[in-house]
Amino acid sequence: MMQKHHKRLALFISLALAGLCQAQAQDKTIDVVHWWTSGSEGAALKVLRDDMGKRGFQWKDGAVSGGGGEPARAVLRTRLAANNPPDVMQMIGFSIPAYADDGTLGNVDALAAEQGWDKVVPPQLQKFAKHKNHWNAVPLGVHRTNWIWANKAIFDELKLAPPKTFEELVSMADKIRKAGYIPLAHGGQAWQSATLFDSAVLSVGGAKFYKEALIDLDPKALSGKTMEKAFEQLAQLRTMVDPAYPNREWNFATSMVYHKKAAMQIMGDWAKGEFEKARMKPGTDYLCFQYPGTDGAFIFGADQFGILNTKQQAAQVAFASAAMDKGVQEKFNIIKGSIPARTDVPMDNFDSCGKKSMADMKQAIKSNTMVGSFAHGHAMRDTAKVAATEVVGKFFDKGGSPAEAAQQLAAAIAKAK
Ligand code: BGC
Repeated sequence: MMQKHHKRLALFISLALAGLCQAQAQDKTIDVVHWWTSGSEGAALKVLRDDMGKRGFQWKDGAVSGGGGEPARAVLRTRLAANNPPDVMQMIGFSIPAYADDGTLGNVDALAAEQGWDKVVPPQLQKFAKHKNHWNAVPLGVHRTNWIWANKAIFDELKLAPPKTFEELVSMADKIRKAGYIPLAHGGQAWQSATLFDSAVLSVGGAKFYKEALIDLDPKALSGKTMEKAFEQLAQLRTMVDPAYPNREWNFATSMVYHKKAAMQIMGDWAKGEFEKARMKPGTDYLCFQYPGTDGAFIFGADQFGILNTKQQAAQVAFASAAMDKGVQEKFNIIKGSIPARTDVPMDNFDSCGKKSMADMKQAIKSNTMVGSFAHGHAMRDTAKVAATEVVGKFFDKGGSPAEAAQQLAAAIAKAK
């Protein structure tokens, strides 16, 4: 009788201890990896961080600089190998289902069901956030890459208007250079050149060709005449940049535009965040318009946070609730330059470029001209993207024959697929 009692007591104690350990393992911190290191990116992230603070969570920040996120993904590989993953990590496009497939990601299914995410997140984003019916990631905002950002004072001084064709852009660049300004602010990092390539491909072939080549990976489209033209555009853009462009960070390129050193930058609308941080206003100090030949069409990339397999489920659920909060999405995206991932966030407080982005996205969805960004992981799987980005980056930096570059692009993708 006594022995039985002791056994029960021992069982009770060990269960209580296990419970205690679990509670201890789940502390009130959230370990976050991201690549938001520019001024406006940091300010936008602070909205989320402050909200987590209000929810009682400490923020362990893992910022890894490098637009497009390749260096951050390398950090994740190291941390996974050391069995020390972060709780959540900024993720884009096809890397999310790939991480889900290899078991790196957990999910926030219960919260998503409770809050009805299925109804407020557009299918174009669900395609990446949700894998095999699990919400493995939380979508925060939508960026567009086929933008040009221009210094209005230079445009006024030289009586320039947004170019309607690529040829017009080329002749404008000539005028700008002769007036003593740099036509195009650019940073020679492969992902930035790949961002120009997004627009060039859409400009030469339209959304249909963009899909055939960069999304369906049709070898004929990848290596053919139209793709050759996209590389020709890239070669022309190369003539518009200053000699000091190698390795310049994208936000320094943006600052060349608002400091009136350069007339334009072709970049995703995270550049808008930097203009706003510098207290520049759209329509007054800077202009936003579409890369010529891509009006109406929308090349998108969405920032999401992947939920990793850690013991911090309570913190992850709090983080996901914060990221999906309507007020947080409004504030965050206004600072970041993107538009909300949720379709039910009011756009009244967004500026004219933000409103245009939302209107164009709705139109592009209707006309089937919304396409995933190649440079930012929404067109092809990461292995192919990395190989193709290298071809594009090299061509931009070293030059060469556009026809050969198109062949190399097709070959690199075929090998990596
Ligand atoms: C991300 C943006 C980020 C940009 C530059 C993109 O891949 O989607 O959120 O601002 O890289 O860092």
